[in-house]
Amino acid sequence: MMNNATPHTIDVALGERSYPVWIGRGLLDDHARWRAMLRGRHALIISNRTVAPLYLERVARGLDGLRWSSFLIDDGEAHKSFANVGLALDALATLGATRDACVIALGGGVVGDLAGFTAACWMRGIDFIQMPTTLLAMVDSSVGGKTGVNLPAGKNLAGAFHQPRAVVADIDTLDSLPEREYRAGIAEIIKGAAIGDAPFFTWLEQHAQALNTRYETALVQAIAAKVRYKAGVVARDETEQGERALLNLGHTFGHALETAGHYTTLLHGEGVAIGMLLAARLSERLGMSGPADTLRLEHLLKAVGLPTTVPAGSDPQQLLALMRLDKKNTAGTLRLILWRRIGQAEIVTGVNEADVLAILQKATTEQR
Ligand code: NAD
Ligand code: GLY
Repeated sequence: MMNNATPHTIDVALGERSYPVWIGRGLLDDHARWRAMLRGRHALIISNRTVAPLYLERVARGLDGLRWSSFLIDDGEAHKSFANVGLALDALATLGATRDACVIALGGGVVGDLAGFTAACWMRGIDFIQMPTTLLAMVDSSVGGKTGVNLPAGKNLAGAFHQPRAVVADIDTLDSLPEREYRAGIAEIIKGAAIGDAPFFTWLEQHAQALNTRYETALVQAIAAKVRYKAGVVARDETEQGERALLNLGHTFGHALETAGHYTTLLHGEGVAIGMLLAARLSERLGMSGPADTLRLEHLLKAVGLPTTVPAGSDPQQLLALMRLDKKNTAGTLRLILWRRIGQAEIVTGVNEADVLAILQKATTEQR
């Protein structure tokens, strides 16, 4: 659907590398807006075989007069790979892309991370524009410049900080997004509120039903609030020297669950949902927070249809071993994001493994 209403605009303030995040309907067709961000004569659209048939044509129409081509990957996390970065770089070479070329990432977080990393590598860094088509990518992965790919040794182990020139979040694209993917995106919205915005958490509790029905006013408000929150964190701590690590609330537990399920059992957002709840329970066990906040989180996750229990067959010892591999850990000790209360997350180092194991053991006795 096309609509010429002015989009919500949120700036990610990074000096001369600042960029806008536009959120609204019809933005893929608003060529004049995003085309102004292209500096050169070459563009490569990177997408996947699910998204391209739906939306690539609308983007391509905006590239009239330029030398452009597209590079499509197969659908799925397994294709966020070094091999595909190599092929995407080959596509840039075939195009004859110069240093002022632009990569356009059209898709979810998998495409966005891979396309951003490709842009970071070509001639040591060229422009790229994020056109996120999943809710998760709109509220999280397209903003902040973390790009990268998975290695056989682990998820997101190779990458670079490389900020986009603009983020074009056309909410029309959410109309075709499967329900489960939509809910996974809601998890990332809840995460932002849980970390640092208690009034927004209350708002989400009040608007859970509206979000479940994808009621547009509530949805756009929720996307904008999460992007505004993340943009602030990124502006203060672009390369994760401190505060930005808070954005990983639920990730250490969540990544372990995702990895244990070989990335097929849980979506990223679902892993984050369960992981946030386990982090809240651990916070409670360590005397950092009270049970009422844990309960509110559990109720909100359930209200929007997100999982709150670990998958059947989860093995606490295996999950703990996977948590030891997390990138946030330092010098052999567990470093986790926990919370004091809703809206106040905290980085905690030297977490006792016995406490983590106790939480995991309890979680596996109430598994699905
Ligand atoms: P995804 O990119 O795999 O997309 C989910 C599914 O939805 C895919 O099957 C995709 O083809 C499909 N799809 C996408 N848009 C669609 C649309 N409009 N209509 C119909 N189907 C559509 O997954 P995701 O949840 O968007 O992103 C997950 C990835 O993002 C992970 O690799 C994760 O590591 C990464 N991530 C990165 C950051 C970051 O800061 N860079 C943050 C969070 C997550
Ligand atoms: N998703 C975590 C970050 O962008 O820092």
